[in-house]
Amino acid sequence: MPLSQRLKAATRGDHEGLDQRLMAFQPFASRARYAAFLQVQYRFHRDVAPIFEASMLERMLPGLRGRQRLDAVIADLGDLGQAVPICYEPVVLSTSPSPSPQMAADAATPPLDLPTALGWLYVEQGSHLGAAFLFKAAAGLGLDATCGAQHLAPLPGGRAMGWKDFVSQLDGVPLTPDEIERAEAAARAAFTRVREHIEVCCPVVATT
Ligand code: HEM
Repeated sequence: MPLSQRLKAATRGDHEGLDQRLMAFQPFASRARYAAFLQVQYRFHRDVAPIFEASMLERMLPGLRGRQRLDAVIADLGDLGQAVPICYEPVVLSTSPSPSPQMAADAATPPLDLPTALGWLYVEQGSHLGAAFLFKAAAGLGLDATCGAQHLAPLPGGRAMGWKDFVSQLDGVPLTPDEIERAEAAARAAFTRVREHIEVCCPVVATT
């Protein structure tokens, strides 16, 4: 099975749980709610930022840097009058005891375990595929690609095409069975991390 399909299967339940939890918050009920969702997005995109800085990964997945959305999230925060959280501590991604040699050889950045990076990246890039629905919902708040919802907008060339290209790059990276397991664990860890951000930034208050 291609890596993308394995990651999808490994995280299906996590994704469903996340969707339900986020929608329970009703992030598009008001601009204030949407701003709270933006805080989730900022935190997650800060978590994965080191992946986009690894020049070895850029060589393996050409065009990767152009896929990063952290700047767009920051612009959206500004449009909503939100401060960027300056004290946020991003997750430490290099959790594997044995970083892949080619990633460790990348002198410009701290060593990143390749399969771990791919697992996190799958979740981040996948979230942009599903963002078509969120982008439409943001329009109901008067937000669009030029104001407040830039990070949800499709990249030039279109959302589906961008995903197709990314998946074919991802599936072209040769991984051992052990590395595939690390990528799956990383994808699940990424969903858990987003879920934690939602619990912090988007509390659901019971109305009884
Ligand atoms: C920040 C939170 C989210 C993350 C991290 C996330 C992650 C992902 C991932 C990894 C995929 C790719 C699945 C695949 O391999 O095909 C995906 C697709 C998708 N997501 Fe999400 N997602 C998030 C929020 C949401 C929300 C809130 C919804 C809607 C309620 C949603 C709806 C979808 C849909 C419909 C797809 C499939 C799109 C398609 O196949 O055309 N996602 N998302």
